[in-house]
Amino acid sequence: MKPLIAGNWKMNGLLADATALAEDLKARAAAGGLACELLVCPPYPHIGPVADILSESGVQVGGQDCHNAGSGAHTGDISGAMLRDMGCSHVILGHSERRADHGENDAVVRAKAEAALAAGLIPIVCVGETAAERSAGQALAVIARQVKGSVPVGMAAERLVVAYEPVWAIGTGQTATPGDVAEAHTEIRRVLVGLVGEGAEQVRILYGGSVKPANARELMAQHNVGGALVGGASLKAEDFWAIATSC
Ligand code: G3P
Repeated sequence: MKPLIAGNWKMNGLLADATALAEDLKARAAAGGLACELLVCPPYPHIGPVADILSESGVQVGGQDCHNAGSGAHTGDISGAMLRDMGCSHVILGHSERRADHGENDAVVRAKAEAALAAGLIPIVCVGETAAERSAGQALAVIARQVKGSVPVGMAAERLVVAYEPVWAIGTGQTATPGDVAEAHTEIRRVLVGLVGEGAEQVRILYGGSVKPANARELMAQHNVGGALVGGASLKAEDFWAIATSC
């Protein structure tokens, strides 16, 4: 399976910024020949226009979250079906910023992943330890607990992506070492075997946390790394493209 390079645009930019970025990526993608799949996850109000621009480009579009209910009285939330309807293929779930800002725990993330799957989306389930947990020697235990608690059991491996994003590496410029990444991804793969069976080898495990053009190639070369979830560097087409061509 090709690596997946996903851009998480978070809560950045206005519509004109999003459409300009999408147009730039569309122009670059027109040349073809990428060895990876490309995905961008814009803020909700920008998804429709970005999906329209990228519809024939091969660049996929995803959401940054969805509710675990199919529809109903949930002011301010959006459903997986709404994302699908706007042209999304994937949805990021359980990002550490949502776990911290919105109190999302593993059970909530799993329920959202189940709802996303039911809506025809591929969930990108995020896990990762804090700096304090790493210093306490708990990194692998935390990662294993989050994967066990957040990933739906018995699902088809090709319908799942997991992202390892150590909280201390997000937006800090402090990237995990290739050794840390390989160790964490190996642990995630081990836990996935218990959850999805032999197909676990097919699950792409992305690394996220200060990925940039200068470090992408080395990170992507690590064992069990199936792509990247990129924040800051995905907001510049040139940088995102340089990361995509590092695969
Ligand atoms: O989801 C991607 C993210 O959290 C990493 O952000 O800015 O460190 O690449 P950044």
